[in-house]
Amino acid sequence: MHPLRRSRRLRTSEAIRSLVRETIITPDDFLVPLFVVGGKGIKQEIASMPNYYRVSLDILAEEVKVLWSLGLKSVLLFAKIPDALKDNEGKEALNPDGLMQLAVKTVKNAVPEMLVMTDVALDPYSVYGHDGVVENGKIANDITTEILAEMSVSHAKAGADFVAPSDMMDGRILSIREALEDEGYVDTGILSYSAKYASAFYGPFRDALDSAPVDQEDIPKDKRTYQMDPANRDEALKEVEMDIDEGADIVMVKPGLCYLDIVREIRNAVEVPVAVYQVSGEYAMLKAASERGWLDHDAVMMEQIIAIKRAGAQIIASYFAKDVVKLIS
Ligand code: PBG
Repeated sequence: MHPLRRSRRLRTSEAIRSLVRETIITPDDFLVPLFVVGGKGIKQEIASMPNYYRVSLDILAEEVKVLWSLGLKSVLLFAKIPDALKDNEGKEALNPDGLMQLAVKTVKNAVPEMLVMTDVALDPYSVYGHDGVVENGKIANDITTEILAEMSVSHAKAGADFVAPSDMMDGRILSIREALEDEGYVDTGILSYSAKYASAFYGPFRDALDSAPVDQEDIPKDKRTYQMDPANRDEALKEVEMDIDEGADIVMVKPGLCYLDIVREIRNAVEVPVAVYQVSGEYAMLKAASERGWLDHDAVMMEQIIAIKRAGAQIIASYFAKDVVKLIS
């Protein structure tokens, strides 16, 4: 007896495999996260993120030219703020000459066509390391969304094409959208971190920005009152629907690999583009394992990126973006 169908026929050579391959990775898939720091000539490696750096504005200008030359056309900016400029309300976030605002201008000057997205949340500016204003031991929702709206307008004024609110306050997309419209920034987009989970995979990022919640009595030590419970799936759809109703142009799931069921569910349910953030801890795990010779870095990196796209991501924010593009070119 012979098998009725032989699947292996389509796997006999790289030529036929590439002909029937369903998921192809290109530079167009990526959004590149970049960490910016004050000063000049600074390129500091982040301890828990090997080969990833915090850079000053002059180095940022060089870096975005390199990214553009590799076909990477979108960046997502994060600013590392010195402790002296932090407070409870994140006032520094609204400084028109603040680091984020200058970073946006720097990128636009260096590569005018580069798409610039900015992180919108209070944690890098907060003395408490929280994404919102702390009041009586709680993260106050509605005051925070007002500040996030002002912050978004400030980023738009500096030249940001998109703002990316990563805070998980309720109603922030509506506040931000209204503020942008009121100020005439009708074309400034919103990429919402819609299904952002309270994840332990953000550890290295918090090292990069020195933004972890403080260990202090009366201050919540984690972000579980605003970021989502990793146990929940239906709720992710609710969050995404709320954000789309409020005006989000793109919705994002974060982290990546542990949440690909959520990604597919959302992709099947919505008509806006779906992004995935492969976060710092996911990057760190592969770097650590491959440094020990336990995993093949490039092979595992590609497998992970392919899995994220196959699950339904149309946009991938990843610290591997440059490595991937170099590898596939
Ligand atoms: C903060 C923010 C975080 C990340 C992006 N924006 C950390 C957090 O919520 O504590 C994580 C990114 C990463 O781990 O790569 N608003």
